[in-house]
Amino acid sequence: MSSSSSSSLYKQLGLGAGSPVSPSHLLLLVLGAGFLALTVFVVHPNEFRIQSFFSGGGCGRPGTDAVDVASAAAAASPAKNVSGGTTGDAADVRVLVGIQTLPGKYERRNLLRTVYSLQAREQPSLAGSVDVRFVFCNVTSPVDAVLVALEIIRHGDIIVLDCAENMDGGKTYTFFSTVARAFNGTGAPRYDYVMKADDDTYLRLPALVASLRGAAREDAYYGLVMPCDRDNFYPFPPFMSGMGYALSWDLVQWVATAEESRRDRVGPEDMWTGRWLNLAGRAKNRYDNAPRMYNYRGGSPPSCFRHDFIPDTIAVHMLKDAARWAETLRYFNVTAALPPSPLYHL
Ligand SMILES: *[C@@H]1O[C@H](CO)[C@@H](O)[C@H](O)[C@H]1NC(C)=O
Ligand SMILES: *[C@@H]1O[C@H](CO)[C@@H](O)[C@H](O)[C@H]1NC(C)=O
Ligand SMILES: *[C@@H]1O[C@H](CO)[C@@H](O)[C@H](O)[C@H]1NC(C)=O
Ligand SMILES: *[C@@H]1O[C@H](CO)[C@@H](O)[C@H](O)[C@H]1NC(C)=O
Repeated sequence: MSSSSSSSLYKQLGLGAGSPVSPSHLLLLVLGAGFLALTVFVVHPNEFRIQSFFSGGGCGRPGTDAVDVASAAAAASPAKNVSGGTTGDAADVRVLVGIQTLPGKYERRNLLRTVYSLQAREQPSLAGSVDVRFVFCNVTSPVDAVLVALEIIRHGDIIVLDCAENMDGGKTYTFFSTVARAFNGTGAPRYDYVMKADDDTYLRLPALVASLRGAAREDAYYGLVMPCDRDNFYPFPPFMSGMGYALSWDLVQWVATAEESRRDRVGPEDMWTGRWLNLAGRAKNRYDNAPRMYNYRGGSPPSCFRHDFIPDTIAVHMLKDAARWAETLRYFNVTAALPPSPLYHL
């Protein structure tokens, strides 16, 4: 969870937290954006692979999977007190995980609900500290409207934002600002962190909670820092990969009310979140979770953001199809506890 690599890169770029926004910072950003555009559209012919990595694998993009993840228990009673368990003080950290998805991705939601509710069954304290929700924009299909309503009644784990579904069209901004208002009760905030995640990301919630427990509760930005080497989008200013990143509650409130985010919300959502924070000198506490957060490797060469599974994983990204999910779940022994029975032959 060291943030040293991120902060050194951060300083190198002259974007140290707390520094005032100056013309040279803006120039750096413009140069960075220009470099990015050049890289994506000119240097790399494989535009979609790169684009999908940086935009977090298709959050909100038609054709990618989207799922509602909250465990049934967590959905039924958000942020309730932790009950017993030997796994520590999960009650002291409360996290809302918003998985960006699309209304029609019923199958993915079903898989994610199953996966995360089994994690909560194995570690009951999770139900008190993590709420998993599926997030999408306005439902436009009359068929989806009925079927999604059915899911909401049954599972209560869907957030429908007031926005039109389109890629990088400001959905993440709408998510953070909606949550900032909806859970802005009097007294202590209901959540310490709000995480945006993709529906092709497998989260190991106990590892996530254990890791967040040791993180600052304020001015905190948690995830996988990009760029993580000089070959991939260096020197674009640092941001956390869209696979899954968390903001502390004060930063969620800030995003909802700041001019920086309001006027500049349309763009690759993960980069833009980093940009708001960089420009405003926010997020002094940055947590880079490499190598525990990474992309599924498959046949690709390993890199700082893509490698083979490791035991203390927090998140694996780019699980685009059932085969990748199966391989991942098998590695993490998720079905190992299946008891023998004459009723199935697997
Ligand atoms: C949760 O814990 C706090 C502090 O221990 C206590 O005051 C509160 O009543 C508990 N709430 C519930 C719903 O059990
Ligand atoms: C989303 O739906 C609501 C309710 O139907 C409507 O008032 C709002 O204008 C829609 N928003 C967008 C961005 O389409
Ligand atoms: C949340 O509540 C605080 C205190 O009432 C207020 O200052 C803040 O603007 C509210 N946040 C949002 C996003 O409405
Ligand atoms: C899965 O189970 C095997 C056999 O018990 C064990 O060797 C391995 O370490 C486990 N893998 C993980 C990721 O826990």
